[in-house]
Amino acid sequence: MRVPIIAANWKMHKRVGEALRFAEQLSVMIQDLEGVEVVLAPPFTALGALKEAVASTPIELAGQNVHAEPEGAFTGEISISMLADVGCRYVIVGHSERRQLFGETNELVARKVAAVLKAGLRPILCVGETLEQREAGRTFEVLEEQLSTALDGVAETQATELVLAYEPIWAIGTGRTATPELAQEAHKFVRERLRKGFGTTADRIRIQYGGSVKPSNAYSLMAQPDVDGALVGGASLDPESFYAIIQFDRPPTEETA
Ligand code: PGA
Repeated sequence: MRVPIIAANWKMHKRVGEALRFAEQLSVMIQDLEGVEVVLAPPFTALGALKEAVASTPIELAGQNVHAEPEGAFTGEISISMLADVGCRYVIVGHSERRQLFGETNELVARKVAAVLKAGLRPILCVGETLEQREAGRTFEVLEEQLSTALDGVAETQATELVLAYEPIWAIGTGRTATPELAQEAHKFVRERLRKGFGTTADRIRIQYGGSVKPSNAYSLMAQPDVDGALVGGASLDPESFYAIIQFDRPPTEETA
């Protein structure tokens, strides 16, 4: 019912030439692939070139961030229409690095989500708790706060355009993945919160897991009933390893374990 969505978040990695080589290799690998959506979120500078390179492939593009205003005197920022112009269908919003390193608040994230939806693109809304918050038993409280603010302005009719990403901050870039059970518990909480806002439409919203997803753990994470995809950082930089994650329905082999 929910088409799984595997997205590569390259963060501040890959120049244009490297991005093009990756896209070329990946598009050959996935040419016969069905039943899964594949998204690349490169740095802004590679989007223009990638738009042409992926045009005749199933690969979709995403921005890693966006400004909430349509245009204006915002030096260094990128608007939603600029992202659409270079082929983006998705935008990552509220990634924990944006929240922690660049001071993005729940309120700002909410404005971005609303603006992205209004413009007809799809936000990948990231939520997740720190280690300190988890250890203090505050995980669900934090998720509730992030979700209720971010989803406040979202109408039920727009909700199917949303993608959620549950990314426990303690698992990002640390090699420390949430266990499948722990991921499922948080995803179930997110799904129930979505049901509260959007009723049965919540069953059509995809919830990705993010945080040290690798070829060796994608299978068991994706086997959880409320895990509908992955947002992959480090392991998405190499086409072979990203492709192995895209093939999440194959149990890990000796090579990928
Ligand atoms: P990671 O990053 O896979 O390197 O942990 C995930 C993310 O930040 O989206």
